[in-house]
Parts: sequence; C-alpha cells; structure tokens
Amino acid sequence: MRIDIVSIFPDYLTPLDLSLIGKAREDGLLDVRVHDLRDFAHDRHRSVDDTPYGGGAGMVMRPEPWGEALDAVAGSGDGVPHLLVPGPGGVPFSQAMARDLAEQPWLAFACGRYEGIDERVVEDSATRGPVTVVSLGDYVLNGGEVAVLAMVEAVARLVPGVIGNAASLIEESHEDGLLEYPVYTKPPVWREREVPPVLLSGNHAAIASWRQQQRLSRTAYRRPDLLHASATLQAAVGEGLGDVAGLRLAVATPADAPELLVLQRACWVPEARANESFDIPPMVESLEELRSSFDGWTTWVVRTAGRLVGSVRGRVSPADPAVWETGRLMVAPDLQGHGLGRALLAHNEGCAPDGCTTLWINTGSRSAGNIRMYRKAGYRLTPGPGRFPGTVDLTRLVVRRQSRTPGPARNSSSSG
Ligand SMILES: C[S@@+](CC[C@H](N)C(=O)[O-])C[C@H]1O[C@@H](n2cnc3c(N)ncnc32)[C@H](O)[C@@H]1O
Repeated sequence: MRIDIVSIFPDYLTPLDLSLIGKAREDGLLDVRVHDLRDFAHDRHRSVDDTPYGGGAGMVMRPEPWGEALDAVAGSGDGVPHLLVPGPGGVPFSQAMARDLAEQPWLAFACGRYEGIDERVVEDSATRGPVTVVSLGDYVLNGGEVAVLAMVEAVARLVPGVIGNAASLIEESHEDGLLEYPVYTKPPVWREREVPPVLLSGNHAAIASWRQQQRLSRTAYRRPDLLHASATLQAAVGEGLGDVAGLRLAVATPADAPELLVLQRACWVPEARANESFDIPPMVESLEELRSSFDGWTTWVVRTAGRLVGSVRGRVSPADPAVWETGRLMVAPDLQGHGLGRALLAHNEGCAPDGCTTLWINTGSRSAGNIRMYRKAGYRLTPGPGRFPGTVDLTRLVVRRQSRTPGPARNSSSSG
C-alpha cells in the first residue's frame, strides 16, 4: 500500500519510522511518503495561510500550495489516491472505515493547520478521485498530523503481513461492534488478584462463553451507544446462551423438529434466491429427514419466550476425525444483527473435541454475505467447488491457546 502525507510539519510524522509500521516500510509492505507543503509555496516566506474571507479569528490555509502539492502527489503514481482530509467536522473514523481503507492501494492525507484548508481544495480534489473528510473524534486538535498518525496506524495494521499474527486481529474491540474482553497473562495471582478461574480451566466452550459475556457487559457499561436496541437479547447471549433472560440454549430433541424446519426454510429463502436454486437440502428436506439428522449431528436450538429463534449444529466429520463441521447456522430474520448468530457459531466452535484441528463450514457460492462473515471470522475459502453443488467450503484452524479462542463471526442468517 502506498501512503502520501502532506503537512507543514513533516517531522511530526517521524513516528511512522518506528515499530511495526516502520518494519512494514522496511519490508516494502508500506510505501509511506511525507511531503512538506511549503515546498509548494513560492513566495519569499513560503507562506501557506491567509486571513479568512468574511472575517473571523485565525488563518486559513491557501488553496494554491495545496492544489500544487496534491497535483504532484496524484501525478506521481498509477491511478488516483483516495484523499483523506482530517477535520473535526468530518465523518467519524472507525474500525469499519479502517478496514475499507486497508483494501485500497493508495491513500493520501492532507494535514490541515490553523482554521483548516480553503474549502475549494476538497472540491477540486473530488473532481479527480475519492475524497473523505475524516474526524478522529468530537474534539479539536491543533493540526491533522496526530489524526493521520492514528489513522495510518489503524489502517496499516490491517494490511496483510503488517501484523505477524493475523489471528490477533480477529477478536479485537470494534471488529464486530463490541469491545474486547479483558485479557490476562502470567502469573496466575498478582498482588492477591487472581486470573478468572475459567481461563485456567482448559474448557474452551466455557472460555468462549465467558469472553462473550465479558464483551457484552463491558460494552454495555462503557459504550452503551454501541449496543443495539435488543440489548436484552445481546446480554442474554452474553450470559453464555444459558437459561437466562428468557433465552435458552439446549440440544434439540425430536419435539423441536417441526419449528426448526419452519425456521430453517424461512432463513434459507434468501440464500436460495441468491444462489438461484431452491433445490437445496435446507429447503427441501422433510420433517423426518430433519429429525433423523439429530443422530449424526449435535443440533443446538435457542428459544426466547418459548419461541425457537436460532440454531446451529456440529459434528466430527465422518470423512476426517480432525475436522469439526458447523452447519445450519440460522437466526430468525427479525433477530439478526444482534450477535446471536455470532454467539451460536462461537458456541459450536467451542464444542469441537480435542482431536479436531480444523473447523469447516459450507455455504452457497453466491452467498456473499455469509462468505464475508466467515472470512472475517478467520475462515478461508477452500479452492474449487464445495462439498455440495453450488456451494463453497471454508475452513480455519482450531485455536486452543488460552489467550485466544476460535474466532467468532457476526450473526448469520444461514449457512451449511
Ligand atoms: C484547529 S483545527 C481546525 C478546526 C476547524 N476550525 C473547525 O472548527 O472545524 C486544525 C486542523 O486540525 C485537524 N483536526 C483538528 N481536530 C481534528 C479531529 N477531531 N479530527 C481530525 N482532524 C482534526 C484538522 O486537520 C484541522 O484542519
């Protein structure tokens, strides 16, 4: 990825020589070029600011040096960069934006100072390529450099190869709208404070449940604005999908099959349409076939107020005892988007027995939303067609280290 930064204080950007970003630059993963705006100011004092039209306090950055500088940057490579202009009046910078920007080949940043940059510079640049005015938060800094340092770090660490252990990116705060759970390392007791015993238990399902509960309660306490309207449902999910707040997780019994069949068909209609085939097992299997699947799979169902609202199933692959398969992950359409699917996936992953080293999941080859979600959860597409016609397989390794559990995904409507 190429990154150009224009500033009147190029030295402000020297921290980009350090640490992982500095190493990524050395390794050729990042091509960061810092430019001095004053090199494009041609008067005797190399001035870059002037008084504001209409009066008022402070100075405004002149358009001529900015225009020249940005022309020079844009003309020095193939294509056009996405121009990011830091400013407290911009759209809020977020992890989602960082993810989008990390996929772009070329970013340019224009660091304002004083009262900001003459508005025509943004308008002019927008005729050439994408321009986004971005705010780091609801406060005012003296200049854009600090904001650029933060944004470049947030974006660059998502560029493949910059962070050695990509798995560590999966479960971080904001990756799925929640904050991360608390983390601990050795020693187990420090100043009479113990590490939560569940983390020492070796019980991966219990650890996954505890962490999910911590993420939800921490988010509810520190950032209630991040929680959706159905916070009750989330909190219930966070309690480990147990029998709390009216949300009950249980292994499916034959008595659940009729309702499960109805939910399954409702959830797979969008997938059938996306994949242009209704002739797929979740749509066509009979009640009897669904019931008999309970023998080979462990099927979990979630109920709230008696209503069946979600399900997932898991089994050791009949073809390979090292593979744990997840299937039929579904959430009632009106409850999607609140973390239930994610919690179900994490729950099922946590049920993988010790001998399993690989997690496997399958979805329609045109189920773009599902594929994106599983990739975010750390799954990778297996090359070639999937196990069933019109499908793709995705796998990821089971992570059994104590500091990380198998990465959960966002909620899902249907898979496998
Ligand atoms: C003093 S500020 C200008 C503030 C401007 N007069 C306003 O009220 O919107 C100078 C520069 O700092 C940077 N800046 C200040 N606050 C920022 C924030 N919250 N996010 C991103 N950049 C910021 C921008 O580059 C801005 O042009």
